[in-house]
Amino acid sequence: MKYGFFDDINQEYVITTPKTPFPWINYLGSNDYYSIISNTSGGYSFFKDARLRRLTRYRYNNIPLDTNGKYFYIKDGETIWSPAWKPAQTELDSYQCRHGLGYSRFISSKDNIQASLIFFIPNGDNVEIQMLTLENQGEAQKNIKLFSFIEWNLWNALDDMTNFQRNLSTGEVEIEDSVIYHKTEYRERRNHYAFYSVNAEIDGFDTDRESFMGLYNDLKTPDAIIAGQLSNSEAHGWSPIASHSVSISLMPGEKVDLIFLLGYIENEQEKKFYSDGSINKDAAKSLIHKYQTTEAVDEAFNELKLSWNKKTSKLQIKSSDDKLSRMVNIWHPYQSMITYQFSRSASFFESGIGRGIGFRDSNQDIAGFVHMDPQKARQRIIDIASTQFEDGGAYHQYQPLTKRGNNDIGGNFNDDPLWLIFSTTTYLKETGDWSILTELVPFDNNINNSAPLFEHLRRSFYHVVNNLGKHNLPLIGRADWNDCLNLNCFSNNPDDSFQTTENLDGKNAESVLIAGMFVLYGTEFARLCELLSKKDEAIEAYSHIEKMVEAINTSGWDGEWFLRAYDHFDNKIGSHECDEGKIFIESQGFCVMAGIGVKDGRAQLALDSVNKHLACEYGIVLQNPPYSKYYLNLGEISSYPPGYKENAGIFCHNNPWIMIAETKVGNGDRAFDYYTRITPAYLEEISQLHKTEPYVYSQMIAGKDAYRPGEAKNSWLTGTAAWNYYAISQFILGIQPDYAGLRIDPCIPKEWDGYNIVREFRDVTYIIEIKNPDHVNQGVKQLIVDNHVIAGNKIPLMEKGSTHNVTVILGN
Ligand code: BGC
Ligand code: NOJ
Repeated sequence: MKYGFFDDINQEYVITTPKTPFPWINYLGSNDYYSIISNTSGGYSFFKDARLRRLTRYRYNNIPLDTNGKYFYIKDGETIWSPAWKPAQTELDSYQCRHGLGYSRFISSKDNIQASLIFFIPNGDNVEIQMLTLENQGEAQKNIKLFSFIEWNLWNALDDMTNFQRNLSTGEVEIEDSVIYHKTEYRERRNHYAFYSVNAEIDGFDTDRESFMGLYNDLKTPDAIIAGQLSNSEAHGWSPIASHSVSISLMPGEKVDLIFLLGYIENEQEKKFYSDGSINKDAAKSLIHKYQTTEAVDEAFNELKLSWNKKTSKLQIKSSDDKLSRMVNIWHPYQSMITYQFSRSASFFESGIGRGIGFRDSNQDIAGFVHMDPQKARQRIIDIASTQFEDGGAYHQYQPLTKRGNNDIGGNFNDDPLWLIFSTTTYLKETGDWSILTELVPFDNNINNSAPLFEHLRRSFYHVVNNLGKHNLPLIGRADWNDCLNLNCFSNNPDDSFQTTENLDGKNAESVLIAGMFVLYGTEFARLCELLSKKDEAIEAYSHIEKMVEAINTSGWDGEWFLRAYDHFDNKIGSHECDEGKIFIESQGFCVMAGIGVKDGRAQLALDSVNKHLACEYGIVLQNPPYSKYYLNLGEISSYPPGYKENAGIFCHNNPWIMIAETKVGNGDRAFDYYTRITPAYLEEISQLHKTEPYVYSQMIAGKDAYRPGEAKNSWLTGTAAWNYYAISQFILGIQPDYAGLRIDPCIPKEWDGYNIVREFRDVTYIIEIKNPDHVNQGVKQLIVDNHVIAGNKIPLMEKGSTHNVTVILGN
């Protein structure tokens, strides 16, 4: 069952009922100020950091779901309705929510009034624009009242939800004309405030929640809305809110635009106050002035659209498969930019409080957006590398506001360092910007202890070499990519965190996943050494890589697939010898991506085993059979019920590793088949089961052993975004940026006739036509660039600003 449709021309998903199986959300903002917004206008706004600078309140895990947001009420006679359905929840005559790139628009109607409500954050300003257009489509004059509503958060989102003894006394506001200012704690250590304005004369306001709502009421039927009159309340402590009321009279056919602005202002210390002691409102006023008219809002909206077009136009496909095209052209790039921005911090599944920017996560995200915004990728790489330790290890996370490593979680996730090599080499291949390698980057944010970025990569490489176990495989530390395989934790105490508890010294447990990663990304490091003419260093690096391949061959192969790990007691994990968890996905993906066993058939065998034991209708599960009980030596993985999350859920993030691995053995049919199993556009028809948004990936889909296979969770912020985009564009469609040119190496289903791609690469536009006359999976028979046949499958670098026509004929 579907709850909407894709509008590819407008690059939108159009939701046609407010009652989706879960709130279907979107993100606003691309610089410092952001909002999350659902299809009933639930959500919240924040500046940079969803924990430390949250502007409005949101109630996670509430009943009903998705409570609190950017709300409007229209009172038309005795009928009260909301343009986004919530909070009034009155049945509407029509409803649409259009989630687009950086904006959400609601179009709804009730009793001859049409409301069109757009939310977006203009480029470069810390303000959310909410423009509401009301039109009288009936024959009679309408006299209505419009009310806005938001609830202020007292900045620190965790404190706001826990520290009531203080917080119920601190709230402060100011009201001037049609603007409500929220200034809690501004009198002391804060230099920031927020405001909520409307470009119309108001006939009332409320800033105190209790006066607005009544103590025993809820957002559906606030006292003030029922009465049709706000009481001009001024908040002193308790829960400050902002609500305006505007009286509107519309003749038949008449329309009005109302512009609401929800802004964030920082003032310099010396200029915090006016002489009368009130807050300095200059900056707020100039921002309000800037967006006072419909024309100004339209212009800002057009700029936003243009900036997104610029990003998505870097890679466009024309194919006979609409679902593939809309993913590649719209939703892959969009979700990848969003995961870059938010890492894993703020979604409807991530509270914005727990996690900041992840070292491993954000390095991987680079692969999904570097071609769209190389500047941002560069900065992100530097920021991440600045949290690396001198020995090559790294803080697992850092806070976006301070960019400092998070001491609560610390380090010792031994896959982390290698991801820095992946992100940096991916950046280099895309941009050719070698200067990044000589950039001085601190260790642990200490500028007195800095080294060129290249040195950070070297330390990453040697962090693995210096931390090998008894089978010469890498020690796993707290965990590798799989946060829940906690081989040094041994916790029987439910109050321990699986991620931070290390009860053992970590000198035994080894990871075959890190071994495969080392061969893959270590080779990237060695290649880099060669390109930098560091011959001896390259030779040395290759010798370590060879040893690792040997160790995998000797101790990492189980007969029909790659082992996953050795635990503290030297027991095999992910082996046919195990009772449960006999085969894992990650080591198959990484070892084959690294080329291990490709020549001798083991790679094919491992992938066949994946197909046989792990693949199911909805994707490839992480391991099998699932753990049916808690294993002290394994940790969190065995804490989940079978079929969920890391315990044999379909952890979408690692499915593309298998897709890419399949392309390494030339199996384009399987690679693409796996792609369609987890890609949201292909799941739209089963939205009632899938539950999460049909336009973005979710972290997890319940696996074949789960109670309800196919049900997804944790949508939006997942490494799946970057990895699937990377897999489809570079390995299936085969457009691969490399240091000295663009390699074309598709691996597609045999039945495809071909497709067209436009790719901007290093300021050159390539218009590429790929033809598959012999119906093969893989193999470039001929490459023609501007009517010249070129040997091999790599288009050399061309003059900046030029455009080239490329024809690729596949065949043997
Ligand atoms: C989840 C992981 C996550 C980890 C760290 C676990 O409960 O299953 O996917 O990475 O927590 O927050
Ligand atoms: C989600 C985390 O963000 C990511 O870092 C981790 O690799 C996966 N969970 C798997 O545990």
